[in-house]
Amino acid sequence: MELSEAINGRHCIRRFRPDEMEEEKVEGILEAAREAPSAGNLQARDFIVVRDSKKRRELAEAALSQNSVSEAPLVIVVCANPGKSAAKYGSRGEELYCIQDATAAVQNILLAVHSLGLGACWVGAFDENSVREVLGIPSEIRPVAIIPIGYSAEEPSAPPKNMEIHNEHW
Ligand SMILES: Cc1cc2nc3c(=O)[nH]c(=O)nc-3n(C[C@H](O)[C@H](O)[C@H](O)COP(=O)(O)O)c2cc1C
Repeated sequence: MELSEAINGRHCIRRFRPDEMEEEKVEGILEAAREAPSAGNLQARDFIVVRDSKKRRELAEAALSQNSVSEAPLVIVVCANPGKSAAKYGSRGEELYCIQDATAAVQNILLAVHSLGLGACWVGAFDENSVREVLGIPSEIRPVAIIPIGYSAEEPSAPPKNMEIHNEHW
């Protein structure tokens, strides 16, 4: 798929078919996540791959009852690892770079998913401590995004986008 097609054609999918995904596709998605840029290449982000249906239901609960999370056969939870980035970059690494490392990986995942003919959504509305509890995430690690992934059961809508560009000066 052309990059422009992947970028322009990707939209959030919130309804999923139960069909399992081919393992090569899952590997492709994880490879795309790994290849994302990160500050100092410290890769201050971690991934939790969740297939278990009970855990997915619990994650959906933690995500304010967003059913997309339990409906998708695969969920990737992307976490920021502040300690990894703070070791080199101090508070900027701890507060900012690790979140950016995680979210760069999220975007790579979303684009890879779309290019493989699958659908996904970036779910950011969740209770962090509940997600930590469901997945046994240590308190110093910050879950940043829950990404339900699967074959789409809906036609995505293409919400309008705009952009304010300031030329030369704010
Ligand atoms: C930080 C962030 C948090 C988001 N959280 C949610 C969420 O909790 N639930 C959801 O359905 N979509 C969520 N979204 C997806 C946005 O609603 C979606 O990207 C936006 O409406 C644009 O639509 P598109 O991605 O289909 O182009 C989130 C997106 C971002 C970037």
